[in-house]
Amino acid sequence: MDEFAGKVAVVTGAGSGMGKAFATRWAAEGMKVVAADIQQDALDATVKELREAGHSVLGVRTDVSRESDIVALADAALAEFGAVHLVCNNAGVEGYLEGPIWAATDKDWAWTVGVNFWSVVYGVRTFVPIMLRQNEPAHVVNTASMTAVISAPNMYGITKHAVLALSEVLAANLREAGAPIGVTALCPGTIATNLFYGNRNRPPELRNDEEPPGADAARELRARMHGVLSAGMPPAEVADKLVAAVRRNALYLLTDHDWDDQVIARHEALRAGTVD
Ligand SMILES: NC(=O)c1ccc[n+]([C@@H]2O[C@H](COP(=O)([O-])OP(=O)(O)OC[C@H]3O[C@@H](n4cnc5c(N)ncnc54)[C@H](O)[C@@H]3O)[C@@H](O)[C@H]2O)c1
Repeated sequence: MDEFAGKVAVVTGAGSGMGKAFATRWAAEGMKVVAADIQQDALDATVKELREAGHSVLGVRTDVSRESDIVALADAALAEFGAVHLVCNNAGVEGYLEGPIWAATDKDWAWTVGVNFWSVVYGVRTFVPIMLRQNEPAHVVNTASMTAVISAPNMYGITKHAVLALSEVLAANLREAGAPIGVTALCPGTIATNLFYGNRNRPPELRNDEEPPGADAARELRARMHGVLSAGMPPAEVADKLVAAVRRNALYLLTDHDWDDQVIARHEALRAGTVD
């Protein structure tokens, strides 16, 4: 997909961080934008800013971990703008950080995997059939992470490895089908967003009844990591790179080379594990 003006983009997680930057950037490219987020006030702010700048934008409150919400999002996009050419499955949370993986509860898994992985499954199986029916150039962007390319450090990393793998399978299937639909797996490094306050939108029914032993340490980690991200790449810079990647139909978009040593170390360790 290399022509954007007049086309329709759906962006999840558009209330903050990269999603907001992507919605803003696609609008600047002349696209009609459907902005989705679970946090109503943040979503409203994005919609207001884009409308005031003269763009066509629709806001749809969406919990991406619910398939019915994603279907409703697609219905709203089609009702308002008649088509969907680009979808950014972008919403995500830092998820479970409270302890070792064996101590995670069903609710920790449901929240983290629901928002980071099932959302992308739902996005793919809702929007790709619409794009196939349109039979026009279209593109799917799945936000994975640099943690998808290195050894997964935690539950978040598990979900991002899965998002990357899903993107690779999707791209191969679309190629085999001869569909005019591209796929980009975006792997951001350290970006200045609110990711480490993802907890703010954890639904009450998926909160643990009791605080786990690691709750204080996780709070400290979140605050420290928020500081690290604050010094990271501005989301608008990622948006610039994303537009270029979609234009050239790049399957992988890694935002920088800062993680190369870890990427190489993982793959060398995998090779070293090969038994001839
Ligand atoms: N910031 C980084 O350094 C970094 C690095 C790699 C990958 N990522 C990924 O980038 C994506 C965007 O995150 P960000 O860094 O901009 O963080 P952010 O917290 O600034 O934005 C995420 C947005 O997703 C929304 N959201 C959370 N749960 C949701 C749900 N259930 N349904 C719908 N919306 C929901 C939040 O309300 C928020 O507006 C995520 O997938 C994240 O994992 C971020």
